[in-house]
Amino acid sequence: MNAIPVCTTVKVLLRPATAGDADILLMWRNDPSAYRNYRISEPVTPETHAAWLAAVLEDPNRALYIATADDELVGQVRLDRDGDVVEVTMAIVAKHRGYGFGSRALAQALTECHRRFPCAQAITAEIASDNAASRALFVSFGFQEIVHRGRFIVFELSIGTAPSNG
Ligand SMILES: CC(C)(COP(=O)(O)OP(=O)(O)OC[C@H]1O[C@@H](n2cnc3c(N)ncnc32)[C@H](O)[C@@H]1OP(=O)(O)O)[C@@H](O)C(=O)NCCC(=O)NCCS
Repeated sequence: MNAIPVCTTVKVLLRPATAGDADILLMWRNDPSAYRNYRISEPVTPETHAAWLAAVLEDPNRALYIATADDELVGQVRLDRDGDVVEVTMAIVAKHRGYGFGSRALAQALTECHRRFPCAQAITAEIASDNAASRALFVSFGFQEIVHRGRFIVFELSIGTAPSNG
């Protein structure tokens, strides 16, 4: 894997995930530093993951992207539409965190959300209350805390206030 320079200004791009990304997505999913922040905070089996990925890829209300920077795979973003609300979930690979990739990937995700789900009225993110990085990230984009749900807090961005590009 290439080393991406610290404090890089490299652009982050999102491309649709495919079945060919199954192995890397499984590796990222089973990183404890990522899954501790997920609703199902434990590793998944390859079989469970394969079934999940197939279902996501064929669902018109879901969109899964691989984030790339300088041709390196740096993370993933998922959009899940439920009525006029779209939930965004994302993760940056551990070694690339803290360099602005999450911020740039979220900017791209909001643009992609407008393109893919133009009727959406709000974008939400469910964030573990002790996930300081994710809270800082979404708050910096104008997301506001709307409700506590167990160990998670739901943040919401009204679509009219979402930035149109990154
Ligand atoms: C949350 C996550 C995506 C952020 O990605 P990242 O590339 O590290 O974030 P960035 O470097 O772009 O930083 C984004 C903001 O978070 C802040 N931040 C980053 N790491 C932080 C940390 N450990 N503690 C507090 N704030 C932090 C940055 O200062 C920045 O805030 P600012 O714009 O106000 O300066 C990444 O930490 C991650 O993948 N975590 C594991 C999976 C996860 O928690 N996903 C969220 C569920 S939706």
